[in-house]
Amino acid sequence: MARVRKDRERGSRGGVKTQTRVPLSRPYIDEREEELVLEVLRSGRLSLGPWIDEFEQLCAERVGAPYAAAVSSGTAGLHMLCHIAGVREGDEVITSPVSFVATANCFIFEGGRPVFADVDPQTLNLDPVAVEAAITERTKGIVAVDMFGYPCELDELRAIAERHGLFLIDDSCEALGAEYKDAPIGSHGISGAFGFYPNKQITTGEGGIVTTHSEEEWELLKSLRNQGRSYDSRWFHHVRLGFNYRITDLQAAVGIGQLEKLDRLLAMRSEVAARYGELLAGMDGVEAPLADDADHRRSWFVYVVKVAPGVDRDAVLERLAASGVEAGHYVPAVHLQPYMRERYGFAERMCPVAEDACTHMLALPFFPQLEADDQQLVVDALREAVST
Ligand SMILES: Cc1ncc(COP(=O)(O)O)c(C=O)c1O
Repeated sequence: MARVRKDRERGSRGGVKTQTRVPLSRPYIDEREEELVLEVLRSGRLSLGPWIDEFEQLCAERVGAPYAAAVSSGTAGLHMLCHIAGVREGDEVITSPVSFVATANCFIFEGGRPVFADVDPQTLNLDPVAVEAAITERTKGIVAVDMFGYPCELDELRAIAERHGLFLIDDSCEALGAEYKDAPIGSHGISGAFGFYPNKQITTGEGGIVTTHSEEEWELLKSLRNQGRSYDSRWFHHVRLGFNYRITDLQAAVGIGQLEKLDRLLAMRSEVAARYGELLAGMDGVEAPLADDADHRRSWFVYVVKVAPGVDRDAVLERLAASGVEAGHYVPAVHLQPYMRERYGFAERMCPVAEDACTHMLALPFFPQLEADDQQLVVDALREAVST
């Protein structure tokens, strides 16, 4: 017991507690989630219950997809989509080096080999020209990502996939609420997964949702997440090899509370981003994130700036930490992670655009309830850190 308390005091990452004045991220939870969770607890139905169905229906409506299956994490959802797409040992799958590792891991679990295509320097999403150039006779599919909530080039990627007979999955874990060509991510006919870790637009603690436009795929997802059970009512009847990727009703209840206020949460996030934009305007050595255009409407997930080539990013991060501002490396290039180098021999200069971006990006504190005063503190600390 004492050990648990001590670990909590040291913070979730086990590091020595520092005086954080502005944290990197914070979930936005209120009495509504408490009320819903209490209702589930009192119902005695903690898993495979009605809150999951309701959460799925609300998610499907929200993103404009006919079907949604709630799962234990975004990674679990992406993994099942790759499993259903039939990735086999030795198949090549093209994906983005500017992402979280799960975007590639989801097909590596099935024996797929990652092929990293470079990104567009502005959007930081897969460059369709680089994707097409990376196709070989062993290519099975593409896992794209809407990085930092900015929609990827879905139409171009879909056209490439159709031309070459490949599957296309959209890793939308960071993009709930984003819009591509005036329609929500999730509504474009492509299967994808959204993630609900506590830093996301909505959270269920851990959890995710897969959205699909195929009833058959939806049935498969529900069976696969539940140990390959058939969807008749016999509990010990397993018709395929499955996983335990179930979400609980407790999590679904939190998700319902979160979805009810999603519009407000997104508006608050946009306001915080706009305020950063104003505060950072004209600051030397720091570039703000890409603005929306007619086809791409970002759902603000994190606020990632780029420091100029001459600026020592690690020193900036250290100075920010000393001022009580929690900032982070967001994100290191996936192909250069130690396990990727070891397994596949990947090295620098494979994806120069991605590598350049990944060595200059840093995430500032960002969450819906971030106060203007704290943003001012962050920006003042950043200005000083960059100019020192
Ligand atoms: C782009 C991306 N893909 C996949 C994931 C995995 O989601 P989860 O943590 O819910 O498994 C995340 C979450 O951080 C992510 O940001």
